[in-house]
Amino acid sequence: MLDDLESLNGVGSTTASKLRAAGYTTIEAVAVTPPREIMERTNIGFNTILKIQEAARQMVTTDFKTAQEFYEKRRAMKRCTTGSKKLDEALGGGIETLALTEFIGEYGSGKTQICLMLSVTAQLPHDQGGLEGNVAFIDTEGTFMPERVYQIASARGLDPQAVAKNIHVARAYNSSHQCLLIDKLFTLCPENNIKLVVIDSMISHFRGEYVGRENLSERQQKLNQYLHKLIRLSEAYNVAIVVTNQVQANPTAFFGDPNRPAGGNIMAHACTHRVFLRKGAKGTRIARVIDSPCLPEVPTRFLVSDKGIEDTEED
Ligand SMILES: Nc1ncnc2c1ncn2[C@@H]1O[C@H](COP(=O)(O)OP(=O)(O)OP(=O)(O)O)[C@@H](O)[C@H]1O
Ligand SMILES: [Mg+2]
Repeated sequence: MLDDLESLNGVGSTTASKLRAAGYTTIEAVAVTPPREIMERTNIGFNTILKIQEAARQMVTTDFKTAQEFYEKRRAMKRCTTGSKKLDEALGGGIETLALTEFIGEYGSGKTQICLMLSVTAQLPHDQGGLEGNVAFIDTEGTFMPERVYQIASARGLDPQAVAKNIHVARAYNSSHQCLLIDKLFTLCPENNIKLVVIDSMISHFRGEYVGRENLSERQQKLNQYLHKLIRLSEAYNVAIVVTNQVQANPTAFFGDPNRPAGGNIMAHACTHRVFLRKGAKGTRIARVIDSPCLPEVPTRFLVSDKGIEDTEED
């Protein structure tokens, strides 16, 4: 990661500290952020920003890259275990960094449970399926349960206090507060070695606040803007992003599943992997990866238990 901002042509110590204070701590972050956003957050002049970004792009080659360069970048990608081998397999080996993974499901389907579990497993060493990093958790519904983190960590033989100390939790009270917290991630992640970011849920405040057709396009625009910030975050700091989403009834569906993910095409396009969750028999849950260009859509069964998430016994 290139964090020597002063090495950029036209950036002195004053400009560098303005950039850092606003959360742009690496040359990559400077290169990929829309100039208007940097201007709003730093008070640096627009033309200066364009020049700095030009220099930053030359250093991180954001224009055309060779396939070999892409390959190297993808190789930095890490995977985080969910605790269930079957579910990991269905996800292509676990939750990926450099990507946005969305868990969609009705109430009680296990979305929050998976997020809490990942907050523990992300801290494990790479050879145990972890990301060797800390966690940022944006809780929009007040359902983050520290007791559950302690329970999962203890059941897995980890020191619960040490695990809980590495999870940075913020409660978002409305959509603009949620957006502000997402902006803060650009400073929080590099400063605290954060490798997993959870937003549970991405969409509930947006759905609650922007009611009615006339507000739909504004809502979608804002949602799109912040989903793309999350994608940039994942690429700038090699972070795994996990968001949850609800289902909404589709009254025009006569056949098949009458429920579809909220957030429409904006959510569908921004998320790299989408996973549908539903309740199964005997307390099990069923996950199905949807819309994936490379993963099969086979339903996979897993269990929510004291240990968090695990394989069902019959497997
Ligand atoms: N220790 C545990 N052992 C077994 N199951 C548990 C345990 N803790 C929670 N659960 C199960 O997880 C369910 C809650 O799931 P979760 O909170 O992840 O739902 P959700 O998909 O986030 O729903 P919502 O849309 O309401 O946020 C509980 O109903 C319970 O069945
Ligand atoms: Mg939940």
